[in-house]
Amino acid sequence: MVKIVAFSGSGRRDSVNKKVVAVAAKGAEEAGAQVTIVNLEDFNLPIFTEDLEAEKGMDPNAQKFKELLMDSDGFLISSPEYNSSYSALFKNAIDWASRKIEGETPLQAYRGKVAGIMAASPGSIGGMRVLVTLRMLMENLGTMVLPDQKAISDAFSKFDENGKISDEKIEKALKNIGKTLVETCHKLNS
Ligand code: FNR
Repeated sequence: MVKIVAFSGSGRRDSVNKKVVAVAAKGAEEAGAQVTIVNLEDFNLPIFTEDLEAEKGMDPNAQKFKELLMDSDGFLISSPEYNSSYSALFKNAIDWASRKIEGETPLQAYRGKVAGIMAASPGSIGGMRVLVTLRMLMENLGTMVLPDQKAISDAFSKFDENGKISDEKIEKALKNIGKTLVETCHKLNS
């Protein structure tokens, strides 16, 4: 069974990107994948520095996050746009999981994996700029990023407080990213 890890780059409790992730995750589940949704803030990761790593080694929670990625076939990521790019929370987690652990081939958390990327913003371009930086980052780490992507503008008006999406076209596009991700993982695994 295809295994997907799904997460948002926002640590905000009521994050609209978390709601986006949940919809895309549903699409992946409907396509037969096992999806694990995680909140990055729950890992409580310290800010990565090489001194901290040299003194204390891999942070235990960073190791848990990294193992989750290593054990998956692909990722569903929805990112807020912070000053045209991804959040520090997101990049910090990605940096921790890029560090080598005993017995690992380099960048094992990322290489050979596939990602579906999305963004949501209350603004008018829906986080389109973060998708450019997010795609570049993930591709440079060895993750193949699906050509299909979605930026959702005026995003607060499109979900209710329970995460229910009101726009059927966007719902379909998000679920489709989840489905295409699963199909692509199947193709790569066969
Ligand atoms: C933002 N926001 C924002 N929005 C946008 O469309 N483009 C941008 O460049 C920025 N820059 C930015 C910087 C910082 C530091 C913050 C805190 C916010 C607004 C952002 O889209 C908004 O807070 C979203 O609600 C964040 O997504 P979540 O937390 O709802 O998932």
